[in-house]
Amino acid sequence: MTRIGTRAEVWFSNVVASFARYVAERTLPESVPMLMRRDAVLDSYGHAKEVMQGAYSFLDRFEGLTLSIQEARKRFPTRKLVLEFGVYKGGMINYQARKFAELNFVGFDSFEGLQEQWSGMAPKGTFDLGGKLPRVRSNVALVKGWFAESAPRWKAENPASGTPLLVHVDCDTYAATVDVLEFCANYVEQGLVLHFDDYFGFPDWRTGGFKALQEVSEKRRWRLTYLSYGTKEVALLAEARAD
Ligand SMILES: C[S@@+](CC[C@H](N)C(=O)[O-])C[C@H]1O[C@@H](n2cnc3c(N)ncnc32)[C@H](O)[C@@H]1O
Repeated sequence: MTRIGTRAEVWFSNVVASFARYVAERTLPESVPMLMRRDAVLDSYGHAKEVMQGAYSFLDRFEGLTLSIQEARKRFPTRKLVLEFGVYKGGMINYQARKFAELNFVGFDSFEGLQEQWSGMAPKGTFDLGGKLPRVRSNVALVKGWFAESAPRWKAENPASGTPLLVHVDCDTYAATVDVLEFCANYVEQGLVLHFDDYFGFPDWRTGGFKALQEVSEKRRWRLTYLSYGTKEVALLAEARAD
């Protein structure tokens, strides 16, 4: 007699159904979250066409940051320091530190998650690791704390650290990005490559890192030259305006 509905069969069909639901929820074009994302992509596309002519594009976020580090080295060949704001489990910083073993990386993070809600995307506290630091490669140092306090403290303790080759901004929210950009203001006097991981292409992008950069660059009179863009990422050269 054929046995139907064994525990293994039920388990297997549940797994298949869960996977199908997971894929459907993320690909259905007719859902509110997906329409929000589509709108955000179209708005970002319009913005890129308006201000980013001549910049190159990439699709993979790891490769995109690698290209930005290489671009920065052409401009600033003597610089050896890369700063990352927003480390989480260290996936990106370890990847780049392995690729660029001759560079030094410093990663800043609370390791307690987002300090505020990421509008349109994620609640306060997302990415909380309970304050536990991830394992990192030997050319990576980690600085724990909220940026507004940890970054100036690190700089005071490392007065000879010099101007960074590149600053990777991966902290998602408006207030955190303002803290990072204000900290970078002195570096921009010498010219600084900034690579944003979450700049546009997602709901409410105009209220996050994008808004922080527009406001700080206007207030501090920076000239911005867009170097590249990905699906969410944007890299640019920030310099002090001469006028
Ligand atoms: C998207 S995750 C970083 C991902 C990481 N760069 C990667 O690619 O694997 C954002 C991180 O920013 C940190 N963060 C956000 N705002 C912060 C702030 N004001 N001070 C310190 N850390 C902050 C969070 O704790 C979180 O780990």
